[in-house]
Amino acid sequence: MNCLPQPVSSGTTGMPRIGDRAPAFTATTTQGEINFPADYVGSWVILFSHPADFTPVCTTEFMTFASLQEEFAQLNTKLVGLSVDGLYSHIAWLRTIKEKITFRGLSDVEVTFPLIDDVSMQVASKYGMIMPGEATTQAVRAVFVIDPHGIVRTIIYYPLSLGRNFDELLRVIIALQTADALSVATPADWRPGDPVIVPPAGSCGTAKDRMDGQDQDVECIDWFFCTRKVSEEEINRAIGRTPKGTGS
Ligand code: BEZ
Repeated sequence: MNCLPQPVSSGTTGMPRIGDRAPAFTATTTQGEINFPADYVGSWVILFSHPADFTPVCTTEFMTFASLQEEFAQLNTKLVGLSVDGLYSHIAWLRTIKEKITFRGLSDVEVTFPLIDDVSMQVASKYGMIMPGEATTQAVRAVFVIDPHGIVRTIIYYPLSLGRNFDELLRVIIALQTADALSVATPADWRPGDPVIVPPAGSCGTAKDRMDGQDQDVECIDWFFCTRKVSEEEINRAIGRTPKGTGS
């Protein structure tokens, strides 16, 4: 029996929600044309918006995204940025970042992931990235995590003044992949190596099934609350990740 919710299209609801198919679009980017999400089937994607080129918080975010691109790639995750600026502004800003900006020890940073030209605001509007109470002419800092099947799995929004937390973005990707690979859920503040929750919230069974079962690794505190120890190595194996410095 399949108890999982079935994906739907965002259709008339205006913006995608968790569990919806990522709305499709074609766009011009700093890396050429993209057909989204079709070009990304088989990969996880972080589709994110920033308010404007040539602004300081956005600059620090792009430098940080670029510095973590390899770490995201090890998690089969690609990055796609967007702002409502045009292509030539994007190119000039990214060149300035590479040639002039230093941030937290990062310098000479080349942004090689695509940055979407969305002067028409078509993509930003489709994805609910324009929040008029915050700004009518700029996108807020939206993060859409989209899975290899093109389904929206997590949405995070930040206002203009608040730069994103990149440890959290990495944690979200690892937690989603762990949940999928091991059929578990992850508790508050979970980090790889911490116990996970079995079975996951919203699935068919209850922890009672586990209490009655034979699983040696599972510890049940009550009928609804069971955890299982999972080492970081097991997680890396399950999600197919080879962290930096571990060879192979
Ligand atoms: C920034 O990225 O620094 C920024 C952008 C828009 C409004 C405020 C700050």
